[in-house]
Amino acid sequence: MKMSCLPTLPFAKSARLSALLMATFGGSLMADVPIFEQNARHHPVLARSGMVSTQEAHATRAAREVLEAGGNAIDAAVVAGFALAVTLPRAGPLGGGGFMVVHLAEGSRTFAVDYRERAPAAAHRDLFLNEAGEADANKSRWSSLAVGVPGNVAGFLHVLENYGTLSRADALAPAIQLAEEGFPVTPDFHASLLFSAPRLVRDPDARRIFLQDTGQPPPIGSIFRQPELAKSLRMIATDGASAFYEGPIAHALVEYMQATDGLITLEDLATYEPIERDTVTGTYRGYRVHSMPPPSSGGVHLVQILKKLEPFDLSPEEAGSAAVLHLLSEAMKRAYADRSEYLGDPDFVDVPVASLLNPAYLAARMADFDPARATPAENILPGDVAVQEGGDNTTHFSVVDAAGNAVSNTYSINFSYGVHRMIPGTGILLNNTMDDFAAKPGVPNAYGLIGGDRNAVAGGKRMLSSMTPTIVFDAEDNVFLVTGSPGGSRIITTTLQILLNVIDFRMNIAAATSAPRIHHQWLPDEIRIEEGISPDTRRLLEQKGHRVRQQPAMGSTQSILRTEQGWWSGVSDPRRPDALTEGY
Ligand code: DON
Repeated sequence: MKMSCLPTLPFAKSARLSALLMATFGGSLMADVPIFEQNARHHPVLARSGMVSTQEAHATRAAREVLEAGGNAIDAAVVAGFALAVTLPRAGPLGGGGFMVVHLAEGSRTFAVDYRERAPAAAHRDLFLNEAGEADANKSRWSSLAVGVPGNVAGFLHVLENYGTLSRADALAPAIQLAEEGFPVTPDFHASLLFSAPRLVRDPDARRIFLQDTGQPPPIGSIFRQPELAKSLRMIATDGASAFYEGPIAHALVEYMQATDGLITLEDLATYEPIERDTVTGTYRGYRVHSMPPPSSGGVHLVQILKKLEPFDLSPEEAGSAAVLHLLSEAMKRAYADRSEYLGDPDFVDVPVASLLNPAYLAARMADFDPARATPAENILPGDVAVQEGGDNTTHFSVVDAAGNAVSNTYSINFSYGVHRMIPGTGILLNNTMDDFAAKPGVPNAYGLIGGDRNAVAGGKRMLSSMTPTIVFDAEDNVFLVTGSPGGSRIITTTLQILLNVIDFRMNIAAATSAPRIHHQWLPDEIRIEEGISPDTRRLLEQKGHRVRQQPAMGSTQSILRTEQGWWSGVSDPRRPDALTEGY
């Protein structure tokens, strides 16, 4: 790996090829047709005007139709967000929360919307400890205490009302139709229910809605209808967010909480608000990256890792080499060590974002990088960062429209099917996102992530996340890439590798997506790899002192990339079925 920093132009080879074809066949044929590597093994979807990429086909189609009918990217995002609440119940229900990065072409404004779940006011630091003072995962993952105050309805309606053009009724209509008329159960939906059935069966509503009398999921190909969810969506279409936060749904949720020792009150719901925040921003090889600020750790660590890598020449020829994977792992583990100490809800604790992104700090963090040897995690403490005193189963979708607006959205109910319980009579599944708090400093959460005091539980606080919805701009300020992923702690490194594969390794977006991924999160001190990393590479990494473990595939990116010709090229991650990218 050379240390020089080459200016990198994605698709430089495509440009050469394009020039050659232009010379051969003439400009008229070639004028505006994007040419990709003719020998690429993976090809994206291409479109000229707008594009939608989500993890479920009905949601993609509904959102694409909105774009085609003249709606903007925000309209399409809201349509997709509500439709996924129906068609991807394991990840997108109304009882969850998330993050959105929005780019408005008019005025060229890019900002983040934080609609993350919030701890109920009565929550406190020791909420998840048992009598012995140990973290009790049953409490933080499987009880009513695991449920954070949901943000999805407030978040989507906030952006629709402020930046969309559709009426609420029109934005919710596709979701209502999908809930009422139903959609066919796919093998993937069936399999996810089969996996979660042992817990879903314990909740009367979840059992009735998701399982048959036998306790088995509905058969593949049968039509899955959700009349109670349709009713809830209709109430939201008519009365807006107040139906969820003050009206009948709020009352049903609070009654359920009171009956099951949960903490959420009417006051918690009535005071919930989405928050617009500045994105975390950084440049990388001439591109401008906008990603999610705290209370997500995603943007901070994405930019940290990119900046640590920037002095190195990651040439396309080196993609996937042991030298590159070693460098990535070392940069990743130093970022996750910082995460364990410094990240939390900025409205409650001081999160030293500027210090964590300070170039001198990042250079110092990599000063002990050894191209030949892994630095053991135990030798990497969270960095020494100046702190200002005085302040106090997830899914991603991407949308771009013809006017240049873009939305990058990741939202979640934490585990697949969240806490596996529903607000009675509403068809709405609840999250178990309270587990993203550090139940006890130093004790890992469900994703093996260690949190510190800054991510301790407190009433009204938002739990730290890894969600990394991201929009990248090129040197001419065009939206260049819209991407993000589910995957718990792996979200940040998955998103990172999409950026690197496109910007450094000059892959088209389909190849960038299907390339095998790696992940290092400091603790456990190992590189997690997907299948497809060669045994030779693995051995070379082990020789450098890394523990390497192959585990299941990571992430489910839904990405849209601008081609040199100004077209959109997009792709849904092949790692999860049922996803779809469509444009027009
Ligand atoms: O906010 C977070 O970081 C987690 N609750 C995300 C969970 C997740 O991605 C699970 N899905 N694969």
